[in-house]
Amino acid sequence: MLWTATLETGIPKIDEQHKELFRQVDVLMDAKNQNRLQETLDFLGQYVVKHFGDEQVMHASSNYPKAAAHKQMHTAFIATFKELKQKFESSGHNLTMVMEINKVVVGWLKDHIMRHDKEFAAYYKGLGK
Ligand SMILES: [Fe+2]
Repeated sequence: MLWTATLETGIPKIDEQHKELFRQVDVLMDAKNQNRLQETLDFLGQYVVKHFGDEQVMHASSNYPKAAAHKQMHTAFIATFKELKQKFESSGHNLTMVMEINKVVVGWLKDHIMRHDKEFAAYYKGLGK
């Protein structure tokens, strides 16, 4: 499992969604699941959008001062993911794609969660929610 406890924000809804993201990325990168590649890519493409949307709703409802900058990061990642998805769809499962997913998707998610989602979580919990 790619998700580790250090990635926990302490907001259960966000943590559950992050875990699901990592679970699906695990499936994506595992050569054994090649028959589920398209299904997993489609699910992830939609789930990322849903997850970011849910986070953004929480940002807005708690008047998070960095909401706009955070949304920009989400939007940029959605574009990156779409490009990778297309590449993976045409190349199929191979080591190069797995390495790229690992670097671009797993790397981005971990960095984003550690820095930006945790920053929001600290703010959110500071409101006494
Ligand atoms: Fe986020």
